[in-house]
Amino acid sequence: MTNIGLASDLVVPLNDGRRIPLLGFGTWQLRGNEARQAVSRALEAGYRHIDSATGYANETEVGAALRESGLPREEVFVTTKLPPDHVGRERRTLEESLAKLDADHLDLWLIHWPPGGTAGVESWRVFVQAQAEGLVRSIGVSNYSLDQIDELTSATGVTPAVNQIKWSPFLFDRSLVEASRERGVVIEGYSPFRAARLNDPVLTEIAGRYAMTPAQVIIRWHLQHGIVVIPKSAQRERIEANIDVLGFELTPEEVAALDGLSGH
Ligand SMILES: NC(=O)c1ccc[n+]([C@@H]2O[C@H](COP(=O)([O-])OP(=O)(O)OC[C@H]3O[C@@H](n4cnc5c(N)ncnc54)[C@H](OP(=O)(O)O)[C@@H]3O)[C@@H](O)[C@H]2O)c1
Repeated sequence: MTNIGLASDLVVPLNDGRRIPLLGFGTWQLRGNEARQAVSRALEAGYRHIDSATGYANETEVGAALRESGLPREEVFVTTKLPPDHVGRERRTLEESLAKLDADHLDLWLIHWPPGGTAGVESWRVFVQAQAEGLVRSIGVSNYSLDQIDELTSATGVTPAVNQIKWSPFLFDRSLVEASRERGVVIEGYSPFRAARLNDPVLTEIAGRYAMTPAQVIIRWHLQHGIVVIPKSAQRERIEANIDVLGFELTPEEVAALDGLSGH
């Protein structure tokens, strides 16, 4: 069984001194018993990073699966997100998330979308305060532009640790990677498969060289770029396959060929 969450070469440092496991488990569209079962299977398979959101309506099930796993809370990195229409009730939403997750802190709290298309400076101030109080270890954003991130930084002096955005080889944007790094913002990619064409010949050819699947090559490509990736699956075999990506390494030429898919 792979336990990637603890491997030091598979975490990336955040701008607040913490670390985030590069490979996590996505939970969008998993609800009720299916969510609980999928998260339990993910934890059994070795994932130590779970991505939830208030908007996914599955925090209670994520909390139950964490509790049932028997894993020490410190071993699992847990993220949830503030829905943009919860502006003005950020603190209450955080308390509800903690209660549902059965946790006394989050590892990462994200503003899910720019509220009303703005940077959401007032919400960000609540995030900064929650971090200062230890209720959340790290704070970040999702679906933000660099300008919106810069607005949060100049208003508060605190730069988001993470920007969770749609990402895959087909969306690769080197200038965004570099500009995010310059700011100390880690890119966390979402929808690695939904934002890809899994039957693309470049991808299937590289996968064939290693007897891996295109999905596994996409995960591996993220890891080699130091970009966090959070694949979702409801199926045990895929949950296990999506984390079974340590037994091969893409060459620099293969990484470059995959980067090039964004131009197609
Ligand atoms: N911040 C945001 O706005 C935002 C937006 C979207 C997603 N997210 C986060 O990112 C996570 C991942 O993104 P996502 O759920 O949109 O999509 P995804 O992980 O790219 O893809 C999930 C889909 O791919 C299938 N799949 C999983 N493993 C596969 C494999 N090995 N081979 C082929 N197909 C496979 C799944 O089906 P089965 O379940 O049937 O296996 C499901 O239909 C979400 O769960 C959520 O946590 C965040």
